[in-house]
Amino acid sequence: MNKKNKIVKPAKFVKGQITLPGDKSISHRALFFAALAEGKSKIKFLNNGADVLSTIVCLQKLGIKFQLGKYSVEVDSSGFKKWNREITGSINCGNSGTTTRLLAGLIAGQGIKVKMIGDESLSARPMERIIEPLQKMGAEIESENKNLPILFNGGKLMGIRYTLPVASAQVKSCLLFAGLFADGKTYITEKTRTRDHTENMMKIFGISIFKKKNVISINKLKNPVIPFKYSVPGDPSAAAFWVAAGLLVPNSKLNLKRISLNSSRISYIKLLQKNGCKVRIDSINKSLEPFGDIIIQSSKIKSFSIRKKIAASLIDEIPILALIATQAKGKSTFRGVKELRFKESDRIKSIVESLKCLGADIKEYPDGFDIFGPTKLKGNTVDSYGDHRIAMMLAIAGLISNSPVKIKNHSIVNISYPDFYGILERISRKQ
Ligand code: S3P
Repeated sequence: MNKKNKIVKPAKFVKGQITLPGDKSISHRALFFAALAEGKSKIKFLNNGADVLSTIVCLQKLGIKFQLGKYSVEVDSSGFKKWNREITGSINCGNSGTTTRLLAGLIAGQGIKVKMIGDESLSARPMERIIEPLQKMGAEIESENKNLPILFNGGKLMGIRYTLPVASAQVKSCLLFAGLFADGKTYITEKTRTRDHTENMMKIFGISIFKKKNVISINKLKNPVIPFKYSVPGDPSAAAFWVAAGLLVPNSKLNLKRISLNSSRISYIKLLQKNGCKVRIDSINKSLEPFGDIIIQSSKIKSFSIRKKIAASLIDEIPILALIATQAKGKSTFRGVKELRFKESDRIKSIVESLKCLGADIKEYPDGFDIFGPTKLKGNTVDSYGDHRIAMMLAIAGLISNSPVKIKNHSIVNISYPDFYGILERISRKQ
């Protein structure tokens, strides 16, 4: 870990073109589908962060081979029927919730006996949400506090009917993956729509999946997936930090290239557009996983409100939306976002405390917070709380503060966006 604080100075303007790293959610899934294939698949523009690397390291334990290039990775799998079942040591998911929960579905489905572990932050995150339905399907699982470490002891899975008690794409995807190996059909009801990359990518890679209203169903997978070539679109959640920079720093214009425009991921753009932000979507490629460019200019933003209904579709963008709210006139409310307490940090606490440190007027509630703006933020030394999205939010705050923001534990951005500070440097002109 880099012990020195990262110093981000106020900027006169930000300008330029940015190609985003591959979407993190889609990258994890592309790797899992390549592991389900028999033969060599090629994935271009895979996210180069530590989380996606955790998925690679875990899949290596199952016997899958990887050849990493600069912009692409070749994945060589002998098919799920020949995955390594005699795993030595445990499977370490690092900091990655997506690796843990999606891989849990595959491991339980295959009846592989192994212990799954993670770092301190991941070991504090709730896993009951996957343990309970997987046990219902027949998986034999042990875990002390419904957290990692989890011990998978085999078991034969049966399809179940299950209504997701939390709006979570990770839980939904875990069960869809488990359903691929369960006898009979698996039905999942989702009361609130969450990101649907797993469903789309199953269709793209030839796996039958059905959706009737809000019930998704899946059958047992008979044959390995056919090896594929796939290009991962840019990450809209990473793009959100540049959208905020372009919007909040005066005299700015940014052009963001080839970003995923999956409708379950761009609610934050629609919200900002509705509230006065000059953000335009361009050159759209309308495939099952659509992508396109985003052009953003400095704008005056009105206060806004986020409620439970849309929270799931912009959950990862809430830290940066909170920063934007500090610059909006009036009261912005964020409610029904309790899920934030179970992310890489307790994000309600880390947002409230870090923004307070910069002088923002913010009030915490059990399920969210209120922000009163606009406030000219002041520089300070602030902790990232070991959370990549908080570190990136603080860096954008540095661009609009009256003096530099110093970020403690700043290198945590490597979780999803190793090139973040380099790009920040390139696009910003110091005051
Ligand atoms: C993700 C789903 C979301 C999101 C996470 C990635 C995914 O988590 O916050 O960054 O790839 O499915 P939850 O499913 O826990 O809401």
